[in-house]
Amino acid sequence: MTLWSGRMGSGPAAAMMAFTVSLDYDKELAQDDLDGSAAHVEGLGQAGLLDPSEVAALLAALGTARDELASGTFAFAASDEDIHTAIERRVTELAGATGARLHTGRSRNDQVATALRLYTRRHLRRLGGLLCDLQEVLAGRAEQAGEAVLPGYTHLQRAQPVLLAHHLLAHGWALGRDVDRLLDALVRVEVSPLGAGALAGSSLPLDPDATAARLGLAGRFENSLDAVSDRDFVAESLFVCALAGVHLSRLGEEIVLFSSDEFGFYRLDDAWATGSSMLPQKKNPDVGELARGKAGRLVGHLAGFLTTLKGLPLAYNRDLQEDKEPLFDAFAQLELALPALCGLLGTVRFDLQAMAKAAAAPALGAVDLAEWLVERGMPFREAHGVVGGLVRASLAGDGDLADLVAAHGALGPEAARLLEPGAAAARRRTAGGAGAVAVAVQRGRFADRLAEQRARLATA
Ligand code: ARG
Repeated sequence: MTLWSGRMGSGPAAAMMAFTVSLDYDKELAQDDLDGSAAHVEGLGQAGLLDPSEVAALLAALGTARDELASGTFAFAASDEDIHTAIERRVTELAGATGARLHTGRSRNDQVATALRLYTRRHLRRLGGLLCDLQEVLAGRAEQAGEAVLPGYTHLQRAQPVLLAHHLLAHGWALGRDVDRLLDALVRVEVSPLGAGALAGSSLPLDPDATAARLGLAGRFENSLDAVSDRDFVAESLFVCALAGVHLSRLGEEIVLFSSDEFGFYRLDDAWATGSSMLPQKKNPDVGELARGKAGRLVGHLAGFLTTLKGLPLAYNRDLQEDKEPLFDAFAQLELALPALCGLLGTVRFDLQAMAKAAAAPALGAVDLAEWLVERGMPFREAHGVVGGLVRASLAGDGDLADLVAAHGALGPEAARLLEPGAAAARRRTAGGAGAVAVAVQRGRFADRLAEQRARLATA
């Protein structure tokens, strides 16, 4: 029997139910629905709508349903449209006539929105922790990397040598912004819709402020229509996930490139690579590839859900049921990707020699030569032309760049030493730059920010 059978002359058509049920996936919300329902029951008790023994009976029935769901013994019925219906049905079976009082003053509209907010809070917190874990792995590897250098790239062409630590921390800062964004989104998740009813509140003496406090949420809705229609928190969470996914995709792409023989910078640990079913010699960076591949669906979830929302009139519309699958999947994919990337990056062997060799190409010090001339009074454009001409001459076969620099009237042997391996990176001392002095400061600031984010997550 459906929750709304009283209104209908006939039972629901099978194809109608098949099209509209959400139980298969919204089982994910079981614990959140139980938490919301328990807070509601206590609110009904406080309002004098249930006596203490009825409150106790309903809380006990919710506890039994919780145990059955956790142990897999909960028996679902064909009429269970969603997890909320299923739990209410079971509570009614367990608590008899008192069970029929559970839904007093509540609609599935405020109930579902409440459960989804509790779910989102849980998963944003978990995601924040995982994003911190990956930052910690990157910081640890950056620490071990000491003053090792690799080429920094623009346009995927070697540009200037940078510290490997600087390169790794660059990814770390992006992930840190994801955590900042997530903490900011959490503020807007922390609103309790319970008490908004179907759309207009209740004639019963319910106290939405007290219910919000019971759920550990920061406050209640301001407007009941908005409370049941608002899925901004889902869209924002999907954006947080999509952008984090894009960051992981860029990291994944780099793992793929750097572990190729063409680069040869990364040697993947066997436990974090896959083989080929046919080619015996292969070792493949599937974790990096899937990190890159998953970004597509994460971006798709955001775009799809914004499209679902865009034409909806106030207040609840069944379209909103489409909020769940993209949100659940976005969290699920990141909750799988992040531990895998932590494992891979925590164990990858850096081929520091290959990196150093690639970074030692004298041309990577070209801008240092130009800046050396600038320090001696030459306008930068002119200096750029002098050095560019020497690079061109060297590439045309006129000699090694260092020899040409040493022989040049405005440059000479002292300037040529700037092209020695390591010299260019060591010269970058400006704040936030890629040299050892600046990176030492950066390491400290990164560690401080990570600790601060962990602390904020612990109390979020
Ligand atoms: N499973 C539905 C959802 O997630 C439940 C809400 C149905 N509400 C209603 N008034 N028909 O949106």
